[in-house]
Amino acid sequence: MRTMSDFNADPWHFHRRELAERTVLALTKGPTKALTLFAPRRKGKTEFLRKDLTPAAEKEGHVVVYISFWDPLEPLALLVDALEQAVARKTITGKAGAAVRRITPKLKLSAKLPGTGAGGEIDLSQIPPETRTSLVAHVDTLLGRLEKPKRKTILLLDEVQELARRERDEGLVAALRTSLDVRSDGLSTVFTGSSREGLRTMFSASKAPFFHFGSQFDLEPLGDEFVDHLIARVLELNGTALDREVAIEAYRSLGRSPYHFRALIEDIVLRPDLSIEDALVAYRRRLAAKQGYDTFWLGLKPLHRALLGALATEYPPFGAEASAMIESETGKEPAKSTVQRALASLADQGIIDRWDGDWRFADDELRIWLSAERV
Ligand SMILES: Nc1ncnc2c1ncn2[C@@H]1O[C@H](COP(=O)(O)OP(=O)(O)OP(=O)(O)O)[C@@H](O)[C@H]1O
Ligand SMILES: [Mg+2]
Repeated sequence: MRTMSDFNADPWHFHRRELAERTVLALTKGPTKALTLFAPRRKGKTEFLRKDLTPAAEKEGHVVVYISFWDPLEPLALLVDALEQAVARKTITGKAGAAVRRITPKLKLSAKLPGTGAGGEIDLSQIPPETRTSLVAHVDTLLGRLEKPKRKTILLLDEVQELARRERDEGLVAALRTSLDVRSDGLSTVFTGSSREGLRTMFSASKAPFFHFGSQFDLEPLGDEFVDHLIARVLELNGTALDREVAIEAYRSLGRSPYHFRALIEDIVLRPDLSIEDALVAYRRRLAAKQGYDTFWLGLKPLHRALLGALATEYPPFGAEASAMIESETGKEPAKSTVQRALASLADQGIIDRWDGDWRFADDELRIWLSAERV
């Protein structure tokens, strides 16, 4: 069956076909009802879900529902809208994979709920509190209609840690967990997140709503084959043969971020006279200016600056080297509790994230910029 995803083929996309097929198999035929996929920002999670996993699942006849919670709209609205569409699609068989669309403020629900307007219509941009409970129950009804043991439905819940942010969504999260538990024969789920701490609060902290629900795996960075793929596309496009070694070095120096490497390649395509090295220098400058790293850095407290400097150099935050760096910035040898408080504050600001017991930069590009320019 030809699906929408085939028509949207992106020649610059480097497929992770094997991983996608393995994941679909595990979710539909294996014992796994849910998987949690982690990778830092801009490492290709969404691309993997949309351009690899979705077509691989649709090829096998499964229905895929994608929801990104990285959206200013309420999670409840996003869920109801996506599930209503999927239910509609599932009954008109064969028309899988509709393109992502903006939510229409007025959605006609497939059932009349208490508290909704005439004809079961609801304004998703403003859910009245009295309608919440019935909408949460409606989510379960919709999931029930999507549950089919043979042609499974796979829910892709992107940036799922955002669901755990607001107290008012606690009821939704608990109900979702129960629904997915009960319906695991015909429904499976892939959760993704770019914050380890965020995912921990959802999946592994002792009071986590999805405590040990399914297994976790890390999306590995794309290997050097990704660079080969882009080199081949550039050659096809304008006949420029890029130096493989230099390109690979550039990719690694950009923290193996497919996002930044593609942006660099775009620059090179626009200015073929530029060498990869020069394009890289220019790109880094532009990026630092755009992200406002300079301003950000200057605005930090000296203690925080020194601590980030230590982390960028890969010194353990409580070690002697970090302590010396802090002392030279602040003039005082830091107490352990001071370092602890500073780490917590940097984590609260989303600058660092805990990962396998270590503190790391949430934005790897900031770490690269710091180690190249500041430390
Ligand atoms: N497999 C790939 N092939 C080609 N380009 C890719 C691939 N994966 C990612 N990219 C590039 O990297 C960019 C970022 O990828 P994506 O949005 O999937 O990352 P993410 O991990 O979901 O990030 P975020 O946490 O910010 O949502 C894409 O817009 C695309 O340009
Ligand atoms: Mg994403």
